[in-house]
This record gives sequence, C-alpha cells and structure tokens, in this order.
Amino acid sequence: MTNDKPTLGIVGAGKAGSTLARLWSQKGYRVAAVNSRTPAHMHTLAKQVGGLAVTTALQVIEEADLTLLTVPDDVIVPLSQLVANGSDLNGKAIIHTSGSHGVSSLQALAERGAATGGLHPAFPFADIETSIARLPGATFALETEDAHLRSWLYDLVLALDGRVLDIPRGKKALYHAALTVASNYAVTLYALAENILLSLGAERSTAEHALNILVGATADNLRTKGIPDALTGALVRGDVGTVAAHIAALEPYDRSLATLYVELARLTLPLLEARGVALDAIDDVLGQHHENDST
Ligand SMILES: NC(=O)c1ccc[n+]([C@@H]2O[C@H](COP(=O)([O-])OP(=O)(O)OC[C@H]3O[C@@H](n4cnc5c(N)ncnc54)[C@H](OP(=O)(O)O)[C@@H]3O)[C@@H](O)[C@H]2O)c1
Repeated sequence: MTNDKPTLGIVGAGKAGSTLARLWSQKGYRVAAVNSRTPAHMHTLAKQVGGLAVTTALQVIEEADLTLLTVPDDVIVPLSQLVANGSDLNGKAIIHTSGSHGVSSLQALAERGAATGGLHPAFPFADIETSIARLPGATFALETEDAHLRSWLYDLVLALDGRVLDIPRGKKALYHAALTVASNYAVTLYALAENILLSLGAERSTAEHALNILVGATADNLRTKGIPDALTGALVRGDVGTVAAHIAALEPYDRSLATLYVELARLTLPLLEARGVALDAIDDVLGQHHENDST
C-alpha cells in the first residue's frame, strides 16, 4: 500500500456503492474498476466514474488499492470466501460498508494477506441522486486494526466533510442497533401515528402533512437544543391528566399500542428527571395501565 490517495474499486454498483464512488471520484479519487451482478449497473457506474468494468470481484481487487464490497450484507461473507480462494491479497485493502457486520466478516480475505476494515456511512441511501446531494457531512463508523488503512479511510471521510466514529472490535451490532432505533423505528412510529389519523377519517395527504411538519420540527429541535431540551408535550409539562387520557383512548383502539405508549413514556422518565419534572404522579398513571393489563 502506498501513502498517496488509494485508487478505489467498487464491487456492488447499488445505492451505497454508486453514491460513494461518484462522490469520491468528484473529490479526486480515481475509481479504477467496478464490478456488479447486473452488467448494465456495472457499466453505468464504470462510465460515470471513468473506471474499468470488470467481470469478477477479484479483478476489481487486482486493479485497485482499496476495494469496497458494497454488496448486500448476506453476500459479504460468501463473496469474501470466493475471492480469497487461492488468491494472494498482500498489499491490497478491502472493506465493506455494512452497519451490522464486523471486520471479522472479511476474515477469509485477511488470511490471504489483505488489510481489512469496515466503513459504514450512518446515512439512509434512499436513492443515488438524493444521496449524492445529501451524504456529505455524514458520520462514518470506522473499524479496522490496520493503521495505514485507517488513515486512508479517515481521509476518504474527510474528503466528504464527514466525521469518523471509531467502533471497538466486536461492537458493530450494538452500534447498528442504535441507528436502527433512531432511524428505522422512527419510521415505524410515524406509520403507527399515521394509522391513527387515518382511522379518524383524515386523508392520507392531510395526515402526512401534519406529521411531516411535526417530525421535521422535532428533528430541528434535536439539532438545535439537544437532549433533554428538545422534548415537548404532556409528559414534560407534567400534564398527567392528558397522559391518562392518551392511554385511555389508545386502549380500545389498540391495546398493544397503548402498552408501547406506556413503555416509551417509561423510557422518557430519565429525560423528565433531567428537566426537573416530578415523576410520582406520572409513575402512578403509567402503573395503572399495567394493573389493567393483569386484570
Ligand atoms: N441502504 C442504506 O441505507 C445503507 C446505509 C449504510 C450502509 N449500507 C450498506 O451498504 C451495502 C450495500 O447496500 P445498498 O443499500 O447499496 O444495497 P443495494 O442498493 O441493493 O446494492 C447492492 C449491490 O450489490 C450488487 N450485488 C449483489 N450481489 C452481488 C455479487 N455477488 N457480486 C457483485 N455485486 C453484487 C447488486 O448488484 P446489481 O444492482 O448489479 O444487481 C447491487 O447493486 C450493504 O452492506 C448495506 O448494509 C446501506
């Protein structure tokens, strides 16, 4: 490996691979080669970044200093084993961009001499064009024990005005669970709220407009005020009667949602405490739901 900017290789011309390859190419990194399962996808990206379209992942690795395996999570281990079989990978660096896989998923490649790592953009790649516009500035979780590869990955993140979050070995799944709670389950909660509004007869567009403004303002409050000050609503006002009315309204609508509401309220108690809210009356109201549960 050299100290200069590494040449890059992409295996998997999907959302993450195409976005990253195009952004780094714009920042002066040379994307030497691209491989993907669908030839049309491979050729499109290769043309966009001026790299070679090659027919195997091993050819990408041969052409590039640093190869990104931007394939589905379940493909990472079998693809690594396939590539590693009989290959000499000394002097090559190979990473994946999975949030849940640790660097150990590339063990077969490490055994053939490759420096291995993980670089996970904490960013939702909904589609390539939107991601190219919005990814710069994102945080990347970095996992590698190779100092040289680490410095390459730092530089790649900095080239996108990003930040690095170092993940201790073996802790990748816990890190990824945190992002899932914040991002994926925010979507779940939104969908649950939307269903309630639809059940009240709202048009979908009306329900979504209402929730989009609410959720957008909440995200802004989190950005500008942080935790616990971004918290608004009945709990933080100490409006126990309103909380009791919510639970009473949810119980006949959907008992499991009422239980979820109570559990989320319980998980909010440390934030209320930090805001100096008295908890006794809130505890009582939340406890009543569980008492009703067991009758
Ligand atoms: N989506 C996100 O929000 C996100 C965020 C952070 C990290 N990631 C990670 O990034 C990685 C890729 O995710 P993605 O969302 O970009 O998935 P994706 O859009 O489905 O792209 C995956 C690509 O891998 C290609 N592929 C599948 N099997 C292959 C094989 N055996 N050899 C070569 N290429 C193969 C597919 O090829 P064709 O298109 O050519 O058929 C596809 O383009 C995953 O590890 C994921 O966890 C995703």
